[in-house]
Amino acid sequence: MWIRTSSSANLCLMICVLAIVFSSFLAASGDQEPPWRPFCHMFRVHVIDGFSSNDQPLLLHCWSKDQDLGNHTLYIGGDFNFRFGSRVVAPYTRFTCEMHWGQKHQTVTVFNKRSVENWCCNSGQCYWRGQDDGIYYSSDNSSYQKKYDWLQ
Ligand SMILES: *[C@@H]1O[C@H](CO)[C@@H](O)[C@H](O)[C@H]1NC(C)=O
Ligand SMILES: *[C@@H]1O[C@H](CO)[C@@H](O)[C@H](O)[C@H]1NC(C)=O
Repeated sequence: MWIRTSSSANLCLMICVLAIVFSSFLAASGDQEPPWRPFCHMFRVHVIDGFSSNDQPLLLHCWSKDQDLGNHTLYIGGDFNFRFGSRVVAPYTRFTCEMHWGQKHQTVTVFNKRSVENWCCNSGQCYWRGQDDGIYYSSDNSSYQKKYDWLQ
């Protein structure tokens, strides 16, 4: 009786281990389901005017599927920012901003589950900065990397 219980417990354990191994294979194989990261939840997205002059302001319009954050006009150093909790189940949180600077413009996905959330997971701060030669991203407001060129 004891042996029987033990072996069925072992069988159960083995199934559990197989299930965990299999699900981590699934997670590693690049399917669409993003990793579950419970400590990576609240975010603040910033859009900053980092241009060299105020001849043209940065005109901004940001929205998600269910929120319109309105139109904003930024001058040098101006920082439009907003905070939100990223959804852990579909439909995942996604914010888009349309930016205009004189004749130049670009549409930027400033937050999504697949990429931006991973970039700013640790700091919880996602910085976008419009500059004369393109649109840059940083997770710490100090080391910026160019992500987009302007369209015109
Ligand atoms: C934002 O500005 C555009 C024109 O630049 C206008 O079409 C749109 O209605 C404005 N949206 C809001 C929410 O004010
Ligand atoms: C980002 O950095 C600039 C200086 O490079 C500073 O003026 C600004 O206050 C910073 N913004 C935030 C939100 O930390």
